[in-house]
Amino acid sequence: MSICVRSPASIANLGPGFDILSMAITEPYDVVCVKLTHGGDDSVRFIGEYSHYLPSNFRSTTMHPVVEEFRRILGINFNVHVTIWKGIKPASGLGSSGADAAAIAYALNKLLNAGLNHKSLIRIAALGETAAAGVPHMDNVAASLLGGLVIINPVTGDFVKVDLPSNYWVSVVIAGSKPSTREMRKLLPNAVGMNDLKNNSAYASMLVYSLITGNREVLSRALMGDSIVEPVRSRLYPHYNVVKEALLKAGAIGVTLAGAGPSLFGIFDFEPDRESISGLLEARGLRDYVLIITRPSNVGVHEVPYEDLNT
Ligand code: HSE
Repeated sequence: MSICVRSPASIANLGPGFDILSMAITEPYDVVCVKLTHGGDDSVRFIGEYSHYLPSNFRSTTMHPVVEEFRRILGINFNVHVTIWKGIKPASGLGSSGADAAAIAYALNKLLNAGLNHKSLIRIAALGETAAAGVPHMDNVAASLLGGLVIINPVTGDFVKVDLPSNYWVSVVIAGSKPSTREMRKLLPNAVGMNDLKNNSAYASMLVYSLITGNREVLSRALMGDSIVEPVRSRLYPHYNVVKEALLKAGAIGVTLAGAGPSLFGIFDFEPDRESISGLLEARGLRDYVLIITRPSNVGVHEVPYEDLNT
């Protein structure tokens, strides 16, 4: 019994929506093939450009807690052999670990006929994020699983998926590095003041409104209006201002960190020109970067024809 699924990358936070907003993008993505067996050990094999960043021991992956939770709630024993063609660069801020956790949750739900709803699958997939971030944040897994723009309440697990209009483009610049999402979360305050709460709640709401309606001016202010998380994290990224300036100059409506960074992304209402963005980045001294031009994806994890990626 096998299944292959494609799981899109996702961009969490979107500025003011720390842990509550996330958007799936069409590229990059991972292809995750899961084979179910009885007996033996769980195994994983990563292939592709980024495979050397990843563990060869299944227990060290974000998928392990997901598999354990399926065994626990269904009360059955099974093993998985997982092969992943890794298109999403790990630790880049594009929800690489969340995409695989969402993929295996989706795959097991199908292979085991578990019939779990989206809320349960998000909760289970988010357990995988604990391995990466120390706490089970749900934003990346929810967007990879469902696609679109997902608004999630991480306290209750309630969520809404919003389909985005088709006019947006996203330009992601992967540059620099971060210690880990766990470390990037440790930097954040445990409590926030009322003014920051009001500021971020207002801008997160305006962000959703403007993404749906296409109101450029509101979207610009909202996307770049976080007063709690981004001011702290951006200080750690020397490339932050360079990339932000370059993408704005290239015509982005707004630019902000992708998840915990180090990538930044800009939202455009036209197809941005790769050459001119590269020129603007390089004119500002940035040499070592990967530029991705992509689009929001209203489609989340979905089955693709079985390919034995091992062969
Ligand atoms: N909301 C999470 C964070 C996303 O910012 O830590 C991590 O990709």
